[in-house]
Amino acid sequence: MSTSTAPGGVRDIDLLLALFERPAAQRVYTESVTQAEHAMQCARLAEAAHADDALIAAALLHDIGHLLTIEETEMATPPGTDRHHEAVGAAYLGRWFHSEVTRPVALHVAAKRYLCGTDARYGANLSPASVHSLQLQGGPMSRQQCNAFRSARGWVSAIELRCWDDKAKRPGATTLDFERYRPLLVGLLSRRR
Ligand SMILES: [Fe+2]
Repeated sequence: MSTSTAPGGVRDIDLLLALFERPAAQRVYTESVTQAEHAMQCARLAEAAHADDALIAAALLHDIGHLLTIEETEMATPPGTDRHHEAVGAAYLGRWFHSEVTRPVALHVAAKRYLCGTDARYGANLSPASVHSLQLQGGPMSRQQCNAFRSARGWVSAIELRCWDDKAKRPGATTLDFERYRPLLVGLLSRRR
């Protein structure tokens, strides 16, 4: 789509969807899928669970912080550094979307730490990549931290997102149809304004 005559909101979505065409999105996210495949699988899982539009958008965009930080910071930070992609992504998305989109994004790492602190089976089933990043992100939450997490707005949505996130790592062909989500994203933009 040409962006020269498009309304501002549509241009914003062009910018956003273009991130999934950057080299970073084609890089391997886990042992089995690329960043773009992971995002698409996560959104599809949210849709299948009949999540609302804001949560589907959060699922699609939850790791956008990785796409924003990989290229810019990997040369500047040593390997194994936590780049706080959840905070970077939520802040970036906050210029366009309301908190029902950004909050689950901001909390999806904390949700993993919460689930590890409350459910031993959850931790045992994490992918090796998630186990590695968990250590960088602070490890399982303590009981006190879990209590505090449950008082955060949007924590339940963050748990839902986290569970799709963990499943969205299935090898095999994934149709990368990001345009499918354009109307949903545009609709959420209009609610922000
Ligand atoms: Fe993810």
